[in-house]
Amino acid sequence: MKYNSKEVIKIIKGYQAKKSKLLVILTDIQAKYNWLPPNAIEVVSEKLCVPLIDVYGVASFYHAFSLTPRGKHIVTVCTGTACHVRGAPIVLDRIRAKLDIEPGCTTKDDQFTLETVNCLGACALAPIVVVDDHYHGQSTPQKVDAILARYRKKKTTKRKPEKKIKKRKTTKRKTSRKTTRKAKKTK
Ligand code: FES
Repeated sequence: MKYNSKEVIKIIKGYQAKKSKLLVILTDIQAKYNWLPPNAIEVVSEKLCVPLIDVYGVASFYHAFSLTPRGKHIVTVCTGTACHVRGAPIVLDRIRAKLDIEPGCTTKDDQFTLETVNCLGACALAPIVVVDDHYHGQSTPQKVDAILARYRKKKTTKRKPEKKIKKRKTTKRKTSRKTTRKAKKTK
């Protein structure tokens, strides 16, 4: 998504430009652009009256924030010990070759960013590849081919126009004679 300062200002205003909301403001900007554009960080610094160096300090401290553009899909390969011994290196090699990028980089078409992580805490499923928060356990080079193809397909398939949802006909509720009689009696 293209950077738009108005959008960033809108996010900041949503939190009344409070300094205490710095983290959540950065989270929202990250969610919108998939990274923290330098222009956005400057606007945050200015509007919250927080020194630029402090905003960068927060942004670089948390792993969830990225200071470099990231692709539409984040592919994370676990290279922790359990995943390593069960074949993570060959899985990672296959992804590197398929996407033609190294870990930490993004494909030229901005579709994929490749990352590695030390342990995802799900070693029983080793080796694990995560794509956009979806865990793919017991990964193999063949499985990875299929996974990447699926995400590539998502990019090319056009969304079908949504069918119009027909409004439900509102029918007046008929009150039966029995119920009206009962109501009269109770009065
Ligand atoms: S080493 Fe990969 S999930 Fe633990």
